[in-house]
Order: sequence, then C-alpha cells, then structure tokens
Amino acid sequence: MKIAAIVGSNRQSSYNMKLVRFLQARYTDKVEIEILPIDQLPFYNQDEELNPPVIVNEIKNKIQVSDGVLIATPEYNSSISGMLKNALDWFSRVEQVMVNKPTMIIGASMGIMGTIRAQMQLRQILNSPGIGALTLPGNEVFIGAIQNKMDEQGRLTDEPTIQFMDTVLGNFIEWAEKTKVFS
Ligand code: FNR
Repeated sequence: MKIAAIVGSNRQSSYNMKLVRFLQARYTDKVEIEILPIDQLPFYNQDEELNPPVIVNEIKNKIQVSDGVLIATPEYNSSISGMLKNALDWFSRVEQVMVNKPTMIIGASMGIMGTIRAQMQLRQILNSPGIGALTLPGNEVFIGAIQNKMDEQGRLTDEPTIQFMDTVLGNFIEWAEKTKVFS
C-alpha cells in the first residue's frame, strides 16, 4: 500500500515531520510512505491553475497514484498552517486528486491540546466538495507535549503513543482497503 504523506510544517526540526519519519521507518513492512515536498509549492493562484508550475502536477500525481494520504498537521493560531491550506487549495482544483482518497490525520504540538482545533478545521476542509477526501472515522490522533515523547534524535519513545499509532495505522489500512469500492 502506497501512502502519500503531507506535513504542514516547514521548519527543520518539525515534530510533525519527525513523527511522519518515525512512522515511515516503523511500518516499512506494511506500507510505503512517501513524504511530499509541499513546502516547494508556490502560492495558489487561480490564473495559473490550468497551466501550473511543474511541481504542482508532480505532487498532485503522487497523490493520484497513492492508495491513501496521511496528513500531519501542526496547530497555528488555532488552525492549520497556511502551507497546508495552500497545498489543499492546489489539490482541490482541475484534477481534484483528493476526491474519495482515504485520508488519515495526525497532529502533534507542545501544548496539551495536541492540535485538536487544527484537526477539527482540517476535517471540515477535507469535506468540502473540491477536496472530498474520505477521512478515517474516529481514530483521532492528538499528540500533546510532543517534546516529552521523543528522544534527542527525534524518535518517538512514548510507549502508549507508539501503541496507539500501531492501532490507528492498522485501522487505516483495513478501512482504506474497504473504501476502494468508492474509487
Ligand atoms: C504555534 N503553536 C501553537 N500551538 C498550539 O497548541 N496552538 C496554537 O494555536 C499554536 N499557534 C502557533 C502559531 C504559530 C505561528 C507557531 C509558529 C506556533 C506552537 C506549535 O504547536 C509548535 O511550534 C509546534 O512544534 C509546531 O509544529 P512543528 O513545527 O513542530 O511540526
């Protein structure tokens, strides 16, 4: 199973990026996770959508051929980051590559809320007609105090969180297989 991963933070030491890298390494026997460089996308511009910069179609194609999408979102001012919204806006136009795409959401923050507000908004955005992703029901992954749950190399070390991730990833794979009937 091929999973296209999108991380909503472009900072070098991003916890959300570290989390996705951890999942990428942990589940190699189950899924192939490719992290898409959405930080290279230009600002969405409707004037360019029919003939967009090459990187736009490259990233959209990766989503199109994937069996599912993993989104790791930080929380910026009670919402998702502008970079993540920008990517979703590109994905929602012309070839609408997220439509009926099984999608799993995770998010980590240093506070106790673990990106709850950002994820609530993200689910709403993913439900809009131009995006139309199929979001994994339940299985909400809000990881608070992430700075205490990783080692210095950025590997997740918190055992309950790791076990929860194992369960959610297993649920996602099983559920994504069932959704194939919609695509
Ligand atoms: C934040 N942060 C933050 N945290 C939170 O829990 N709720 C919030 O609303 C915000 N708002 C916010 C705005 C901006 C502009 C920044 C830069 C940061 C803190 C944020 O969760 C923290 O920096 C995370 O570490 C960001 O994720 P990455 O970059 O580590 O993946």
